[in-house]
Amino acid sequence: MATERTFSIIKPDAVENNHVGAIIAHFEKNGLRPVAIKRKQLTQTEAEGFYAVHAERPFFGELVDFMTRSPVVLMVLEGEDAVKKNREVMGATNPAEAAEGTIRKMYAQSIGENSVHGSDSPENAAIEIAYFFAATEIFS
Ligand code: CMP
Repeated sequence: MATERTFSIIKPDAVENNHVGAIIAHFEKNGLRPVAIKRKQLTQTEAEGFYAVHAERPFFGELVDFMTRSPVVLMVLEGEDAVKKNREVMGATNPAEAAEGTIRKMYAQSIGENSVHGSDSPENAAIEIAYFFAATEIFS
């Protein structure tokens, strides 16, 4: 296993409910160190661009409305096998199917409002990190 970076979003539902600190602590306890953090209110254009791969899905409008309704916390997480590890720590996309002890099991309300986003591959992690962070904003 190699040290790797992945991209993470703490979504509006979790930020609104004051779970930012607990979620970051959970990542750190599981070997995922935030090496860049930014709190941001996404614009419609940013959210539509970020989720462009889902543009044809029936839930796309709902997803963009949700992601732009209040601030999010954007992060680059670094650790051993970070992409896979982050997906384990987050739990299943649908919180009803998420394992005990995962972030989505603990904090998420629904498949739409599911508290966190995490990259699904190292290739997408690189694209997603570059979408929101300059290389000069990331410090290992
Ligand atoms: P995320 O990992 O951020 O990537 C795409 C998001 O689309 C996903 O998390 C969910 O929040 C959202 N999503 C997936 N399926 C549905 C659905 N059936 N209804 C609403 N939102 C969904």
